Amino acid sequence: MARVSHISEDGRTTYLELRDGRTATADHVEPFAQVGDIVFVDPDDGSVDSAPRDLWREDTWVGVTKLVAGDRVVVEIGGRLRLFPLPSDKTFRAGLTVEGTDSDGILGVLSEKAIKFLDEPTEDALPERFIVPPNERLSFDDFGGYGEIVARARELIELPLKFHDALNAIGARPIKGVLFSGPSGTGKTLLARIIANHADATFYAINGPEVLSKWYGQSEEIIRRIFEDAKRRERAIIFFDEIDSLASQRSDESHEASRRVVGQLLALMDGFSPDTNVMVLGTTNRPGDVDSALRRPGRFDWHVDFPIPNKEDREEILSTSGRKLKIQGDLSHRWVAEKTESWTPAELAAIWTEAALLAVSEGRNSLRDEDYVGGFERVAKQRRGTKG
Ligand SMILES: Nc1ncnc2c1ncn2[C@@H]1O[C@H](COP(=O)(O)OP(=O)(O)O)[C@@H](O)[C@H]1O
Ligand SMILES: [Mg+2]
Repeated sequence: MARVSHISEDGRTTYLELRDGRTATADHVEPFAQVGDIVFVDPDDGSVDSAPRDLWREDTWVGVTKLVAGDRVVVEIGGRLRLFPLPSDKTFRAGLTVEGTDSDGILGVLSEKAIKFLDEPTEDALPERFIVPPNERLSFDDFGGYGEIVARARELIELPLKFHDALNAIGARPIKGVLFSGPSGTGKTLLARIIANHADATFYAINGPEVLSKWYGQSEEIIRRIFEDAKRRERAIIFFDEIDSLASQRSDESHEASRRVVGQLLALMDGFSPDTNVMVLGTTNRPGDVDSALRRPGRFDWHVDFPIPNKEDREEILSTSGRKLKIQGDLSHRWVAEKTESWTPAELAAIWTEAALLAVSEGRNSLRDEDYVGGFERVAKQRRGTKG
């Protein structure tokens, strides 16, 4: 059996595609042959006879239209670009999900939206890839100020992980999810990492925007696998940075994707068994944007807010973030703390980077007060530049 793949212009030579992929030619297939027809080829004399099309069930493919150029359409199928004739009865545009066969081209539109279909998550999407290895040098000594916040976060995250069995025995309702909220640069990510280190927990870091864009269409599967992996660990923290990005998307298409990811996340959290020792941590700059379904009991119903630091916090953050630097004499953290009202911890820490640059540009290998002040002035200027 073969399929007619091409007919020469003079109509005398018919090219046949055999089932095993080989090509053959025949020269007496008229009058019936057309491209796409199925034929029997007699193995003895090579004569050709027509056959019902159904006998050659062609696999249909699914692809996404990429470009409409004149009377042709570029379709991406399984990562490859192919060109097909534009079906005459349809209005086509880029970004449709279409179905077709190799011989008939596009048969119809399956969806007005482009889908991505990758059956197996790629190597770099395996759960292990999301594990952040413990950093021995990172400890609570690296986190300045915010005494009460640190204490509360440890109580909500570290204690339940450490005393999982005891809390179970008491019959306490497990804490599954904790939300860290606060402006960007207030140390949410830093504290989460320090706590994971300290609690000896496997730490999976998932970036909200990334899981939606880079692994679009695979996001739910990736999250499911990470939870599976985490449940097998003695203790684990699954960290969703910028979790609000999963729940507040502008375009409809990504909104649909994020709804599915949120749904998956909720199902996984609801499905924790009593011996699951996994804590799910989310961060957000915009707590108002976090899907309300995520805030229900048994989900992210615990909340730690990271405010802009007050003067005492700022002084501690400054001395903490500068504590590993080589410094000459006494630097006045208090002086800088007084001048940095409304600064975030990240902005305060940036003073040290600028100060170090100033020192080395002057040929010194330790910091002086003037570098500290100079660093402060530089960051202050950048802040004025960005914040008007
Ligand atoms: N409390 C703090 N003490 C010292 N440095 C801090 C503190 N909070 C933040 N930083 C500095 O700011 C940087 C950014 O903090 P990060 O945790 O990423 O903020 P967020 O996640 O809230 O946006 C940190 O890497 C650290 O250098
Ligand atoms: Mg962060």
